[in-house]
Amino acid sequence: MAAMPAPAVGLAVLVLLTALPGHLSDDLNSDAQALQGLRSAVGRSVLTSWNSTTPTCQWQGVTCENGRVVEVRLPGAGLMGTLPSGVLGNLSALRTLSLRYNALTGPVPDDLSRLVELRAIYLQHNGFSGELPAPLFALKNLVRVDLAGNKFTGEISPDFNKLVRLGTLHLENNDLTGEIPKLDLPALEQFNVSYNKLNGSIPTKLRKMPKDSFLGTGLCGGPLGLCPGETAPTPAGSPESQPGAGGAADVGGGKKKKLSGGAIAGIAIGCVFGVLLLLALLFFLCRKKSPAPRSTAAVEKGRDVGMAPMETEPKGQNGSAGHGGSAAAAAAAVPAAAATAAAAAKTGGASTGSKKLIFFGPMAAAPPFDLEDLLRASAEVLGKGAFGTAYKAVMESGAAVAVKRLKDVDLPEPEFRERIAAIGAVQHELVVPLRAYYFSKDEKLLVYDYMSMGSLSALLHGNRASGRTPLDWETRSAIALAAARGVEHIHSTGPTASHGNIKSSNVLLTKNYEARVSDHGLPTLVGPSFSPTRVSGYRAPEVTDIRRVSQKADVYSFGVLLLELLTGKAPTHAVVNEEGLDLPRWVQSVVREEWTAEVFDQELLRYQNVEEEMVQLLQLAIDCSATHPDRRPTMAEVAARIDEIRRSSIGDRHEGDEPSL
Ligand SMILES: *[C@@H]1O[C@H](CO)[C@@H](O)[C@H](O)[C@H]1NC(C)=O
Ligand SMILES: *[C@@H]1O[C@H](CO)[C@@H](O)[C@H](O)[C@H]1NC(C)=O
Ligand SMILES: *[C@@H]1O[C@H](CO)[C@@H](O)[C@H](O)[C@H]1NC(C)=O
Ligand SMILES: *[C@@H]1O[C@H](CO)[C@@H](O)[C@H](O)[C@H]1NC(C)=O
Repeated sequence: MAAMPAPAVGLAVLVLLTALPGHLSDDLNSDAQALQGLRSAVGRSVLTSWNSTTPTCQWQGVTCENGRVVEVRLPGAGLMGTLPSGVLGNLSALRTLSLRYNALTGPVPDDLSRLVELRAIYLQHNGFSGELPAPLFALKNLVRVDLAGNKFTGEISPDFNKLVRLGTLHLENNDLTGEIPKLDLPALEQFNVSYNKLNGSIPTKLRKMPKDSFLGTGLCGGPLGLCPGETAPTPAGSPESQPGAGGAADVGGGKKKKLSGGAIAGIAIGCVFGVLLLLALLFFLCRKKSPAPRSTAAVEKGRDVGMAPMETEPKGQNGSAGHGGSAAAAAAAVPAAAATAAAAAKTGGASTGSKKLIFFGPMAAAPPFDLEDLLRASAEVLGKGAFGTAYKAVMESGAAVAVKRLKDVDLPEPEFRERIAAIGAVQHELVVPLRAYYFSKDEKLLVYDYMSMGSLSALLHGNRASGRTPLDWETRSAIALAAARGVEHIHSTGPTASHGNIKSSNVLLTKNYEARVSDHGLPTLVGPSFSPTRVSGYRAPEVTDIRRVSQKADVYSFGVLLLELLTGKAPTHAVVNEEGLDLPRWVQSVVREEWTAEVFDQELLRYQNVEEEMVQLLQLAIDCSATHPDRRPTMAEVAARIDEIRRSSIGDRHEGDEPSL
């Protein structure tokens, strides 16, 4: 009896000892075996590096992580034939499978359902046939599915609804028939079923997609116009109609689109608008008689409610929030100086000596306006950022300025004045000038030039329904250059001078879409009590204290900004964050093997002959966002390289267009 447990334990230990060390290599071995199975079936003559003298993880298109194959990317590799069964399914750690642009035929094998880790599958432009592969519906982690340009037949299964994380679904150019099922995929951003034999009505949740997603089909509804027998939704009441409040123009041919973030903000603001108006009136009536602290508090309270939905930083997938809610912001116009009046009233009775705007630069000699003018101005919330809230103030003279009301500033007055003088000393054509400031114990206001076109963030991520025009490549690269030179200038003012908060909402645009860098140096003004609520996707990995930002950290943030220009994705974008990556890491994961069009903004792909330039700028952006600060170029180098990239390509195009020159 007593003898029984001993051999049993001994056996267990033996099994563990032999099984554990072998476990990992077993898996890589089985991965290698499966890949050989793939090669002998469809790539015998092309995948020559897949041989026993080369380690598996160095085979063409194979990426390993922790001793397993996690990516197989063989785009345009010359694969031919039918995918065998019992092969790909053995690659159980696979996250990305790209076999696009090959000559694969037949059905997609069933054992694909075993790839439970799969995030992305690219099978576009092959000759696959049969029904859309049902095994995919078991893969809950799928984010990107591209099956376009094959010979798939049958109907689109409602089982796509099981793929709750799906962000991209390309099914265009197949032979699919029937109606689109009622798909409700919350993360879906890119959807294309063009050029299939589909008919019927586009389901409600997909009607927000552009017309382009449904070309060459027999579909109707949404962006394609009314279905037979369907009546136009009434402007009010219908959940699918656009709200009037945002002033969002309904672009060409669509009764469509669920409420965008901006529109909702517009409605919310519209509701508090009336309240604000009343409070403001009350405030001014009281103020005429005597300074009344109670109504001041009321205005403060009302304003905070009104500002809540307006966030300067784009957040989330549609990026529709932002400065760009200019339509929504317009609805929030308060016919009284919300910020400034309240601010000054608070300090009103006290030290009248300091109730003055201090001007910088050429305006210092002859201030064009004073604090009283600002107080009488009408104010409108532009956005709320980490360092405070920005307002547009239109003075009685008609002149508009941007006023930033700083929060969390607890620096002693001499120190504040010294630091702000350094910021004001930066006067450069590519930097939005700080014109003046106001300092009192309770209020710190910064006065900047008002930039009517808003921020790059709003332009890139603003709601398309509100009439946003896509930024073309020429404009984007010009913005990159101007912003780089602006930051370069800031860096040139001293060895430790930095911007400290480079991001797309701090790149503002003139009427001609020329970029100006704004809000530099603000981190130097906040005190130790400052704690940013959000971790920004622009912050360099080595930066732990936002108040101590270096020039190299600026370069990192600028790299992220370049990636944003190229990909059209905000650093907080859902597709980027879904695997816990930041924008630089995401881009690298996509381009690791090939310079792929997938990373670029769809809006840019329509421009011809700029790929080379885009790839060069992408490389620069990746260099800037290197993890190690010493590997990053200086801002002067960055500006020079962008200039060079633009020159060479403009030269090319010039030669091409006009050979005589
Ligand atoms: C896949 O795995 C199964 C069972 O683990 C094995 O029998 C089969 O040979 C493997 N196929 C390939 C091609 O490695
Ligand atoms: C094995 O692959 C390497 C490249 O990784 C190649 O140089 C070599 O020629 C290949 N060997 C054979 C026998 O094909
Ligand atoms: C779609 O087309 C099929 C035949 O191609 C037809 O039977 C069906 O009624 C059509 N459905 C709609 C809604 O038009
Ligand atoms: C969908 O695919 C078609 C055909 O390739 C293309 O013309 C269209 O622009 C695509 N639409 C979108 C939204 O990607």
